Amino acid sequence: MPSRIVYLNGHFLPLEEAHVSVMDRGFLFGDGVYEVIPIFCGKLFRPQAHLQRLKASLAAIRLDCVWKEAAYIDLFEKLLQHNPEQGENRSVYIQITRGAGENREHVFPKKEVTPTIFVQCTPFEPVSFETYMQGAKAITLPDIRWANCFIKAITLLPNLLLAQQALEEDAKEVILIREGMAVEGVASNLCLIKNNRLITPPVDGSILSGVTRSLILEIAAQQQIPCIEQKIPVAMLQEADEIWMTGSLKEILPITQIDEMQVGNGKVGPVWQVFFRCYQEIKLE
Ligand SMILES: Cc1ncc(COP(=O)(O)O)c(C=O)c1O
Repeated sequence: MPSRIVYLNGHFLPLEEAHVSVMDRGFLFGDGVYEVIPIFCGKLFRPQAHLQRLKASLAAIRLDCVWKEAAYIDLFEKLLQHNPEQGENRSVYIQITRGAGENREHVFPKKEVTPTIFVQCTPFEPVSFETYMQGAKAITLPDIRWANCFIKAITLLPNLLLAQQALEEDAKEVILIREGMAVEGVASNLCLIKNNRLITPPVDGSILSGVTRSLILEIAAQQQIPCIEQKIPVAMLQEADEIWMTGSLKEILPITQIDEMQVGNGKVGPVWQVFFRCYQEIKLE
C-alpha cells in the first residue's frame, strides 16, 4: 500500500514525514480552524461554500491567512491526484493553525509567525444503505461546548467526549441541548419535519452554519416545502413527524429514536425520501 501523501506548509510529502513543532499553537491550544470537504463522483462537493466558511472561521479567530479560493482548490486537486488509489468515497481535511510561537503564551505571538497549513485526503465509510433505510438512534446531552459554535474551531474536546458517550450508549448521534433548546449535533445540524414544514434552528452564532443545511434549505425551496428557521424547544422533538441530522459525510441521516422515545411512527419518513433522492441527484450534477 503506497503511503498517503499529505500537504504541509508548501510541500507534498508522505504522511510519515509530515511533522509540526511541539510549539505549534494548534498542538498547545487548539488555536486553529478546519474544514472537511467531501468528494462525490471524483469532484469536490460545494468547495466554495466550505472555503467561505473557512474564511469566516479564520477571520473570527483573527488569523490572517488569506489565500485566493482558486489557490485552495488547486491545492486540493493536486493532493487528490497524489493519492489516486483511495477509491470513491473520500474527503479533504484542511487545518490551519496560528503556527509555532517562540514561547507558550496565551496571547498571540508578538513576532510574526507563519500559520501551519495541513491538508490530507482520506477515504471515509459512508452511512450504510441499511442505516438510511432503518434510521438511527440519537441521544440528548447538555451542550457543553463553548459559545462561539459558528467557528469551525479545532478545539473539539467537548465534542469528542459527547461522541464517545453516544457510541457507548449505542447511538449514532447526539442532539445537544442548551438552555432547553435542541441546538445541533456534535458534527451535524438538526432538522425537523412537522405537518410537512421543515424546521431548523437559525444561524445565530450558536450553531455551525452547515453546508449540507444550506443545501437542505435549497431543496426545500425547490420542493415548495415551507421552512421555518427557529429555536427548537426540547418538547418539540416529541411532536416531530421526522427528525434528521445533516452533515457533509453523513448527508441526511434520519433519526428514528431519541433516548427512549420513538420519533414519529418510528420509521424513516416520506419527506426524508424526497430530500434524500434530490440530494443524490445534486451529487451527480
Ligand atoms: C458542530 C457541527 N455542526 C454541523 C456540521 C455540519 O456541517 P456541514 O454540513 O458543512 O458538514 C458540522 C460538521 O462538521 C459540525 O461540526
